Amino acid sequence: MKLILIGFMGSGKSTIADALSHKLAIEHHDLDQLIEKQSGFKIPAYFEQFGEAQFREFEHQTLIDALELDGIVSTGGGTPVQDANFDLLVQHPTPTVFLNATDETVLKRLLKDDVESRPLFQELGATGLIELKHARQPKYEQLADIIIDVNDKTPAQIVDEIVNQL
Ligand code: S3P
Repeated sequence: MKLILIGFMGSGKSTIADALSHKLAIEHHDLDQLIEKQSGFKIPAYFEQFGEAQFREFEHQTLIDALELDGIVSTGGGTPVQDANFDLLVQHPTPTVFLNATDETVLKRLLKDDVESRPLFQELGATGLIELKHARQPKYEQLADIIIDVNDKTPAQIVDEIVNQL
């Protein structure tokens, strides 16, 4: 079984993909983790060392490889909206689940998180980040086979909703 999980930073992709992989007894491949493993750099260090454009190229190659694997692929927030990735995902037969979070949910979670682990949050600040979120929203929606509103729900509830819609 294959599944792709998309959504903005802080929408819970990694957590939900982990929980879902346990529930369905399938593997979980987290794109950011694959990038970190294969490049030898943490994401913020990669951005700092090579810049975003090179990160996007690395991300694209990693996505191509990850789509060959069975199980759940959780993407980075920016992965599906890059033109080359968008085209790839549109054509890909694997069901895509979009975790849809409000601006408030995203900001609340990211501010609680380690801000430094998100280079774009550091670069854009809260207002810029939310503008980016709004700009990306139509592409997430276009790619989604299933849209789950995640606000105020527990991971178990979200996982159940996804499973019920598969
Ligand atoms: C990014 C999101 C991050 C990571 C990188 C860029 C983005 O992943 O890929 O910092 O462009 O939204 P998460 O969505 O898992 O934080």
